[in-house]
Amino acid sequence: MRHSQKSKGGEDEENGLAKLLSSLFIFVFGFLIGLSVYSNFNFNQYHVPKPSSIVPKPIHFVSNCNRDTSTLEDFIKPEKLLHGMKDKELFWRASVVPKMDEFPFERVPKVAFMFLTKGPLHLGPIWEKFFKGHEDLFSIYVHAPPGYRLNVSEDSVFYGRQIPSGEVSWGSITLLDAEKRLLANALLDFQNERFVLISESCIPVFNFQMVYNYLMNSGHSFVDSFDENTPQGRGRYSRHMFPDIRLYQWRKGSQWFEASRKLAVSVVGETRYYEIFKKFCLPSCYPDEHYIPTYVNMFFGEVNANRSVTWVDWSRGGPHPATYGGSDITAGFIRAIRDNGTFCMYNSNPTSVCFLFARKFAPSALQPLLNLSSTVMEF
Ligand SMILES: *[C@@H]1O[C@H](CO)[C@@H](O)[C@H](O)[C@H]1NC(C)=O
Ligand SMILES: *[C@@H]1O[C@H](CO)[C@@H](O)[C@H](O)[C@H]1NC(C)=O
Ligand SMILES: *[C@@H]1O[C@H](CO)[C@@H](O)[C@H](O)[C@H]1NC(C)=O
Ligand SMILES: *[C@@H]1O[C@H](CO)[C@@H](O)[C@H](O)[C@H]1NC(C)=O
Repeated sequence: MRHSQKSKGGEDEENGLAKLLSSLFIFVFGFLIGLSVYSNFNFNQYHVPKPSSIVPKPIHFVSNCNRDTSTLEDFIKPEKLLHGMKDKELFWRASVVPKMDEFPFERVPKVAFMFLTKGPLHLGPIWEKFFKGHEDLFSIYVHAPPGYRLNVSEDSVFYGRQIPSGEVSWGSITLLDAEKRLLANALLDFQNERFVLISESCIPVFNFQMVYNYLMNSGHSFVDSFDENTPQGRGRYSRHMFPDIRLYQWRKGSQWFEASRKLAVSVVGETRYYEIFKKFCLPSCYPDEHYIPTYVNMFFGEVNANRSVTWVDWSRGGPHPATYGGSDITAGFIRAIRDNGTFCMYNSNPTSVCFLFARKFAPSALQPLLNLSSTVMEF
């Protein structure tokens, strides 16, 4: 049978293979024993006990090239104000809040002065005088038109304080974007605790120590926020904002706000109401006069003083407040801004000190103001 023949031939082959394998096994076994005797011999030779001093210390191949040299300092206080972050990235980064209540460094709370300017800071010298000697207690941020370079000397408090900016057109959402950009850049410094928006036509009417204490000790933010049943108030509400924003929640207020860190983080990190304003607060609505006042009323009403600390004169009427020039500046005028006998609330107590800053002042007001600063404003 073809099948059995093949089977017999297979048996012969298997016997031959078994012999070959067994002799191969003996050879390999013998070789391994020889090898192990040889290596044991070597092993013993190399492992005779030696004085421990001669045993080389282990070397760790860690060089400075491998080590990340960034420190906590880089994270809590960026050295340079110019960065490559887009608004969306910046706002996300700025809204990151530590979970721990305590800081692993000595934190001296600072006031962030955020200058929103269309060009030169004509009143800069009065601010320089105001800030002098308080370098550890404030930081400055300047939002100027893109491409504009503030012409200040290296010893100026404004030197190197411009942030990456964007185009701003009056009355549009871009004004709010600039405010958010200032807040976000200022939030990157973890020492900043209070945030005040300043224009190029603003001046301080008290000295730095007074302003610092007033803001740091306040349990409230100073965001002007009021309900006004006029075409310029409730009249600017859009029914398309319903139901996210209801008419009774709608507020109006001066753009020149002062905010706590907590409120600043919230405004920068908030997108839901911002998007509604972007879509429905269109020309003749003015997002800068309604978004923050309305948002604060909805979520931070209890911690808002509902008034601004920046004095402004709307008594002349029209779309813009009064501007004061050189001939308007007298000691009596500035004293009346500091205290005109009218009371406002501060930490639930009445006070006659309601305004820390004032606007609007023309460049011609600078010299007379500098002349008055030491006697009237006490700086
Ligand atoms: C910058 O300011 C200095 C001193 O006030 C002035 O001399 C210079 O012309 C200014 N430069 C520009 C580009 O405006
Ligand atoms: C500010 O207005 C809110 C309502 O939005 C109110 O709850 C709060 O008590 C007011 N703040 C002060 C200091 O009166
Ligand atoms: C004091 O200032 C407030 C707020 O600007 C104003 O409403 C009031 O009329 C002023 N009072 C006097 C007496 O000037
Ligand atoms: C500064 O004040 C002095 C005296 O108080 C006055 O004579 C001088 O004209 C003032 N200068 C300006 C620029 O207002």
